Amino acid sequence: MTLWHGRFSGGPDEALQALNDSLPFDQRMYREDIAGSRAHVSMLASVGILTADETDQILAALDTVESELADGTVVFVPSDEDIHTVVERRVTELAGAVGAKLHAGRSRNDQVATDLRLWTKEALTDVARRVIDLQQTLLARAESVGEAYLPGYTHLQQAQPVGLAHHLLAHGWALGRDVDRLLEARRRTDVSVLGAGALAGSSLPLDPAHTAELLGFGAVFDNSLDAVGDRDFVADSLYALAMTAMHLSRIGEELILWASTEFGFVTLDDAYSTGSSMMPQKKNPDIAELARGKAGRVLGHLTGLLATLKGLPLAYNKDLQGDKEPLFDAVDTVALTLAALDGMIATVVFDTDAMAVQADSPYAAATDLAELLVARGVPFREAHGIVGAMVRDALVGAGELTDLVAADPRLGPEAAALLEPGASVRNRITHGSGGPAAVAAQLEAFRSRLAADEVRVG
Ligand code: ARG
Repeated sequence: MTLWHGRFSGGPDEALQALNDSLPFDQRMYREDIAGSRAHVSMLASVGILTADETDQILAALDTVESELADGTVVFVPSDEDIHTVVERRVTELAGAVGAKLHAGRSRNDQVATDLRLWTKEALTDVARRVIDLQQTLLARAESVGEAYLPGYTHLQQAQPVGLAHHLLAHGWALGRDVDRLLEARRRTDVSVLGAGALAGSSLPLDPAHTAELLGFGAVFDNSLDAVGDRDFVADSLYALAMTAMHLSRIGEELILWASTEFGFVTLDDAYSTGSSMMPQKKNPDIAELARGKAGRVLGHLTGLLATLKGLPLAYNKDLQGDKEPLFDAVDTVALTLAALDGMIATVVFDTDAMAVQADSPYAAATDLAELLVARGVPFREAHGIVGAMVRDALVGAGELTDLVAADPRLGPEAAALLEPGASVRNRITHGSGGPAAVAAQLEAFRSRLAADEVRVG
């Protein structure tokens, strides 16, 4: 029997049922559904709609249904459209007539939004924790590489050398903004909508603030229509997840480049790489590629949901049932990618000699030469021109850049010393730069930021 059989003379068509049923995916929220029902029942008791005895019977039945669902012993029947239907059906079967009082003053519309908000709060907390785990790994690796350096790139062309720790922390700070966004999405999700009813509240003396408190929500809805028709929190969560996935994709892309023979900056651990079925010599960075590939899927979920939402009149429409699969999949995908990438980065071996060989090209210090001239009073544009001309001469075979610099009266030996291996990185002295002192300060700031975020995530 459906929850709505009263008005109908016939049963649902098979195709309707197949299209309509959300149980295959929303049973994942059974704990939240039961928590919401417990709170609803306690509230009904507190306002005198249920007697203490009725309340106890329903709560006992809810306990049983929860363990049945946990053990997987509930036998689903064809009319079980969704998890809400299953729970109510089983409560009624177990508690008898009193079970039929459970849904008083409630609709699946406020129920499903409540369940999903409870689920999402947990999920965002879990993802934020995993992001912090990855940040910890980046921090540990940054602390372990000392003053190793590599070329920094713009346009994927060697630009200026930077500390490897500086490079690793750059990804760490980006992930910190993801933690911010995940927590902001969690804050927006933290609103109870139970008590909004189908769309217009109730004629019963419900107490939404009471259920909100029992469920641990930080706020209560203001408008029943908005409460049941709003999925902004899902879009906010998907945006935070899509940004995280995008950052993981960029980290992945770099690891792919670094693991190539051409770069040779890293060697991947066997546990975090795969081989080729045909080419015996291959060792492939699949995790990094999957991080890059799956980001597309996650941002597809965000745009898909926005497309679903954009045409909906108030309040609840069945289109909204399509909020769960993209959210669940985005959470699962990002959580798994975070764990895999974390392991990959924790175990990757950096070839700091190969990095230094590339970073020590004297051309990478060309900007330092121009800045030395500036310090001696030469206007920067003029200095840029002087050094640019020397680079051009060196490239066409007039001599080694270092020799040309040493021999030039405007530059000389002090300037040539700037082209020595490692000199350019040590020369970066400004706030937030890649030089050793700036990186040491940055490491300290990053450590305190992580400690504060751990507290915020809870
Ligand atoms: N399974 C539905 C969903 O996920 C529950 C709400 C159904 N509401 C309704 N009026 N049919 O959205």
